[in-house]
Amino acid sequence: MLYSLQAGGKRIRPMLLYAVLESYDMDKTAGDSTACALEMIHTYSLIHDDLPAMDNDDFRRGKPTNHKIFGEATAILAGDALLTHAFHLISSDDRLTPEQRLENVRLLSRAAGPDGMVGGQTADMLAEDEEVTVEEMESIHNRKTGDLLAVALQMGAFIAGAEKKEQEALHRFGIHIGLAFQIKDDLLDVEGDEQLLGKPVGSDEGNHKNTYVSLLGLEKTKERLKFHTGAALSELEELSVPSHILQELAVYIAERDQ
Ligand code: IPE
Ligand code: IPE
Ligand code: MG
Ligand code: MG
Ligand code: MG
Repeated sequence: MLYSLQAGGKRIRPMLLYAVLESYDMDKTAGDSTACALEMIHTYSLIHDDLPAMDNDDFRRGKPTNHKIFGEATAILAGDALLTHAFHLISSDDRLTPEQRLENVRLLSRAAGPDGMVGGQTADMLAEDEEVTVEEMESIHNRKTGDLLAVALQMGAFIAGAEKKEQEALHRFGIHIGLAFQIKDDLLDVEGDEQLLGKPVGSDEGNHKNTYVSLLGLEKTKERLKFHTGAALSELEELSVPSHILQELAVYIAERDQ
């Protein structure tokens, strides 16, 4: 568990949560257990995503993948344990009110489960070698990647006690940057630098994955990325608090090289 958690990673989901708390001028330690839980669930999804039965990749976060070091059985169990422990952390955090604990567990379990990340990963796998439409592609991306980014913002907004209207705007911001994030991930799999990324490029083509790039080509994919970044930024105009950190994160997601 620690091998993969401590390997690095950009910590973008925790950063989104803390960015909301910072924007609402909240004590950021109120987000600690939820931030760790997000990163644990994300890391478990990567350990399982890299397994031979899934994407069969050998490098992650600049290091050999979990199963390469510990074997498949231990890698599966490390993932299972990270997933389970995430919910233990949130539900036993006494810096959160009982209502905040329950709501965060409810939101996060939905985003990570069959209607969210696991459902998206399943659809992604079933679509290998199949022809899909752009709409189907978008639905896969939304679930496998978008939901976990969007829920980081949603949980931050709930902890901060943001007004309903602002919670909804932050959620829509999250959906757009979530989609932008996976579109950029697909672009980096084609155009990225393996050294900077810390994971192999060309994995999608090797696995006959449907991606925006395989469906639309590079230029149209880049247009889509711009569209979703712009749409995300315009959602921030709904907020009553300064949003420069969230703006910077949205731009970073579109322009990152790792
Ligand atoms: C990679 O996520 C997998 C996707 C959901 C696209 P990240 O790019 O956030 O991976 P780390 O955490 O920085 O390693
Ligand atoms: C996986 O998408 C998203 C997850 C939920 C783990 P990818 O398979 O494209 O992620 P990478 O490129 O291996 O990081
Ligand atoms: Mg995958
Ligand atoms: Mg993968
Ligand atoms: Mg990828």
